[in-house]
Amino acid sequence: MPIELKTAEEIEAIRTASQLATEVLNLLRPLVVAGVTTEELNAVAHRHITEVQGGVPATLGYHGFPKSICTSLNHQVCHGIPGARKLVNGDMLNIDVTVIKEGWFGDTSAMYCVGTPSIRARRLIEVTYEAMMRGIEAVRPGATLGDIGHAIQKTAEAQGFSVVREYCGHGLGRNFHEDPQILHYGKPGEGLRLEPGMVFTIEPMINAGKREIKLLNDGWTVVTKDHSLSAQWEHTVAVTETGVDILSGDARPAAMRGVD
Ligand code: MF3
Ligand code: CO
Ligand code: CO
Repeated sequence: MPIELKTAEEIEAIRTASQLATEVLNLLRPLVVAGVTTEELNAVAHRHITEVQGGVPATLGYHGFPKSICTSLNHQVCHGIPGARKLVNGDMLNIDVTVIKEGWFGDTSAMYCVGTPSIRARRLIEVTYEAMMRGIEAVRPGATLGDIGHAIQKTAEAQGFSVVREYCGHGLGRNFHEDPQILHYGKPGEGLRLEPGMVFTIEPMINAGKREIKLLNDGWTVVTKDHSLSAQWEHTVAVTETGVDILSGDARPAAMRGVD
């Protein structure tokens, strides 16, 4: 499939969907407390997307995925299925929200801590965020996909963490997953050259231990093979004439976001 360059109007439609997904992440943040189940978080997100936002939760029914968000806890890498598990103090989790609005997709995810995280969990979460942001900062016309991957990999590995290889970012627009694939590792100057109008996600999955993963019997949940903690953040971005536009970016000041 060739890479579809998006027009300014199309990018605004993807921004609208992305901002709805960001709103869901924000709505859930105060609800991530000890005793709540991941299914309860799913129910709140589902209701908000369908009844308030007039959108469609993209994961529900996607290749048979049964829920409206993904919730990946502790050593779960991605695609965790919301369920009866109650959150406990010390848990960390990723919530991944994808909203379809008027046919356009927006995809973003964030990390959450229940109570007080361990020092190691907190460091992993912070380094993974920094890795994503370094990847985003590498985005501009003329840069390559290898520049993005390298920036992410270097940031994670410098702290002794590892980059998951089997899952990657992706183009998106009228489809959930389009070309190009955005690898979270690579070499500077290698791979496809970026052009204005490309829209894709950057969503590194970083493990505190080894990079190897395995798929659980539920057919969805990806976990670290060595059971080490794993973190992920995700933004939807557009390549502009001069640099990058974070379509799922949160306009609120840091103090209001509940993260420092
Ligand atoms: N939102 C995920 C991504 O970032 C994809 C979830 S697909 C699902 O690409 F089927 F697992 F929900
Ligand atoms: Co994605
Ligand atoms: Co996602």
